[in-house]
Amino acid sequence: MERLNAILRDPFFIENIRKTNEREKDRVFCRHGLDHLMDAARVLYILVLEEHLEISKETAYTAAFLHDLGRWVEYDTGRDHAEAGAELSERLLDAHGFNGTEKEIILLAIRGHRVKGASGILTDAMYRADKLSRPCITCGSINKCKRFSYGETAEIEY
Ligand SMILES: [Fe+2]
Ligand SMILES: [Fe+2]
Repeated sequence: MERLNAILRDPFFIENIRKTNEREKDRVFCRHGLDHLMDAARVLYILVLEEHLEISKETAYTAAFLHDLGRWVEYDTGRDHAEAGAELSERLLDAHGFNGTEKEIILLAIRGHRVKGASGILTDAMYRADKLSRPCITCGSINKCKRFSYGETAEIEY
């Protein structure tokens, strides 16, 4: 996981996370900082193993750690954070030695992580891991959350 660790130490990665944290400091709904990225990475890799996807641990973890990198851009400009995040992430993947195939898998997963059934061999698992990683059952803002806007109650998801 050397390349992922290099990304996590990269000042450009840290700066993007810092910008999102800053914009979410008063947010009552789910945040998109390192805790979420770590949770999503662990769930994503569980799905990779359970579903026998031919994806390395480092590819899965890297996609998850980068999937919300563009979140602050959406707060600032309204632009879709999946698209913005893919653009920001490409620079990090190039700088830290990910090859063309790895880059394609990771960037498709980032671009498609908000859309059920988007293309890419890791993309649907990324979409599901993103949701499964949220502990909605303990959330104090559930009554105002878009995800539960039709009066559903949260359940632990597996
Ligand atoms: Fe997202
Ligand atoms: Fe996310």
